[in-house]
Amino acid sequence: MKKTILDFKKAKENNERISMLTAYDYSSAKLIDEAGIDAILIGDSLGMVSLGYEDTLSVTMEDMIHHTKAVARATKNALVVADLPFMSYQTSVYDAVYNAGRLIKEGRAHAVKLEGGIEMCDRIEAIVKSSIPVMAHIGLTPQSVNALGGFKVQGKDEKAAKALIEAAKAVEKAGAFAVVLECVPAKLAEIVTKELNIPTIGIGAGAQCDGQVLVYQDMIGMFSGFTPKFVKKYANIGDMMKEAFEEYNKEVKNGSFPSQEHTFKISEDVIEKLY
Ligand code: KIV
Repeated sequence: MKKTILDFKKAKENNERISMLTAYDYSSAKLIDEAGIDAILIGDSLGMVSLGYEDTLSVTMEDMIHHTKAVARATKNALVVADLPFMSYQTSVYDAVYNAGRLIKEGRAHAVKLEGGIEMCDRIEAIVKSSIPVMAHIGLTPQSVNALGGFKVQGKDEKAAKALIEAAKAVEKAGAFAVVLECVPAKLAEIVTKELNIPTIGIGAGAQCDGQVLVYQDMIGMFSGFTPKFVKKYANIGDMMKEAFEEYNKEVKNGSFPSQEHTFKISEDVIEKLY
């Protein structure tokens, strides 16, 4: 059954947890969709895990549309949410609506995600008024890495915790259908979750959020860079891939691949006529 934002609303009302993973390409998105995950995020984390940048700031609208198209083609059931990349919505309300529209119209996403709280509410309102569902994202917002002074846990003192609660309420009022809470102390995320009527989707925000999201390469052990504390490794696919690549390398070099079973035949009569 195709998931919609109404399923997110129902899940919150019925106290059912929402599962979400990132994906950036057709094959991974297909596996994630077939596994029954509720929503797939084409996160701008693709800049780090797929394109090799040190942060998400260089990701462009063209990158996002290209990868969103691939994921959307693979997805039959999950809700497809695409990130608005850095400077595609911060610049103006017009840019926010225009670029959100591109992710829906060209990328075929069902919803967009943007980072920021109270200061982004005019963008959220305008995008929602254009009939595009918006997922908000507060707490650690990686597009603000330079302003935040690094990838750090947010909302730890009283002032910051109160500001986070206010931001969550503001994005809900502005029309967001869900909000990602990234790198927020678990107790604070629990308070936010209780205060809101829209679902909270946690990443590094504890178990009391209404849903969870992870970067898929992190959770299957495929990304060998930094692994944050909040990531649980469900598999070590990276090691398996490396072993397979090493084995292939060895067999190519020693001539044992390809063997007969991986080789096409031609009749000897034809071969004789070639000389
Ligand atoms: O870009 C991304 O993958 C994200 C998730 C970490 C929530 O925004």
